[in-house]
Amino acid sequence: MYSEKDFISPDYNLHKIEEAIKIKAEAPSNIALVKYWGKYPGQIPMNPSVSFTLTESKTETQAEIQKKTQKKEDISFDFYFEGNSKPDFEPKIRQFLNNILPYAPFIKDFHFRCESRNTFPHSSGIASSASAFAALAKIIIALEKKISAEEKEEDFWKKKTSFLARIGSGSASRSIERPIILWGEHPQIKESSNLYASPVQVEIHPVFQDYRDSIVLVEKGQKKVSSSAGHQLMNAHPYKDMRQKQAFENTLKIIDILQSGNQDEFIRLVESEALTLHAMMMTSNPNYLLMQPETLKIIHQIRNFRKETGSKLCFTLDAGANVHVLYPKTEQKAVKYFLNSITDKEILDDYVKMN
Ligand code: PMV
Repeated sequence: MYSEKDFISPDYNLHKIEEAIKIKAEAPSNIALVKYWGKYPGQIPMNPSVSFTLTESKTETQAEIQKKTQKKEDISFDFYFEGNSKPDFEPKIRQFLNNILPYAPFIKDFHFRCESRNTFPHSSGIASSASAFAALAKIIIALEKKISAEEKEEDFWKKKTSFLARIGSGSASRSIERPIILWGEHPQIKESSNLYASPVQVEIHPVFQDYRDSIVLVEKGQKKVSSSAGHQLMNAHPYKDMRQKQAFENTLKIIDILQSGNQDEFIRLVESEALTLHAMMMTSNPNYLLMQPETLKIIHQIRNFRKETGSKLCFTLDAGANVHVLYPKTEQKAVKYFLNSITDKEILDDYVKMN
């Protein structure tokens, strides 16, 4: 277990880098099975969450890093997204770099020129902040490893990467490792932490290995209500205590289910988590609604299909209208046929890779 203090490194050898260097990093997106919703200051989650790390949907970032001739007091970077400079991304990145300075003060000694791209369409509405901040955190840690005066174990670096990514966006903490990730302290789970995420330490039943996630892009484009605003609304939410209690229980339950291979329990829990997340949005003050008619149509069709065929597919949602359809690899063909028959929306096929 690491504490916040462990991530403050006192000594660097800046002279280890004289020439400009290039660092490349890529980080995947993830989809939560037990949802993180609500946070305390410092990006501390109100409850633990458990996610599948995805494989195809990722952010790739390349940084050209040049040591400044004189240390200036400000952070200095250029950021290009898919070939274009993106002034609207800049404040978020600047804030991120500023917020991680206590743990990576050397940032001020360098100029960063970052080029970033997503393997999924940016306008797809699938969460890109998780993979984007995870990729940036990987770059910062790769640089720190080069100049660190101390030798550290690989596990330490992974946890510090997740720790930094968390400061950018909570769910980004879960985009560093694979395949099934827990973030958030749970009194009954040793080694669980609010500060960083770690792989769930149990043997995953074969039925959950190589699970598929086909993402139906119901609504492309920017979210109408940001996740940060949604988290905020949990502070005074009338169902806050019950939701937290449920999420702590569901965290233990999902870990049991992933071990036992009980797919019916998996379906019940995962769909309940998705609908509860949206129920929290619909019952906050002010309330809001992110599901679209097409979202509901697909949910109903999934449930009918399951009843009629005995399929084990199920759905989950993140903070948007898109539907993540989860199913075992053995059902790949049938589900593809089914999804194409019920919707003409674009579908991104992804899966969980077991390392
Ligand atoms: O990481 P954030 O602050 O964008 O929050 C993400 C929250 C959900 O995607 C809705 C749930 C989750 O656990 O990923």
